[in-house]
Amino acid sequence: MSVTQRGPAAYPKGYLTDMPAFRDSLSDREIAAILSHIKSEWPKDIRVRQNRLNSAR
Ligand code: HEM
Repeated sequence: MSVTQRGPAAYPKGYLTDMPAFRDSLSDREIAAILSHIKSEWPKDIRVRQNRLNSAR
């Protein structure tokens, strides 16, 4: 389950954040669509850097 589904308060448990959990309100597809939209607004060099970090795992 993802950070979006559990909410940042689970990482670590009790972490103070304004972001709620979305497991009961958004589907996997909706979460991916929102994050894709946000990423599409990033400058190209930032998208390239994040892709590099993700593929290094
Ligand atoms: C009421 C709506 C929301 C609020 C107030 C909110 C707020 C925040 C904040 C403040 C953070 C930084 C972490 C922290 O709390 O220190 C964060 C991280 C994040 N949020 Fe949200 N958020 C909202 C909705 C969403 C939605 C709808 C999504 C995805 C569909 C999302 C995905 C994420 C992700 C992926 C992170 C990064 C977590 C990480 O660093 O691993 N958030 N959010």
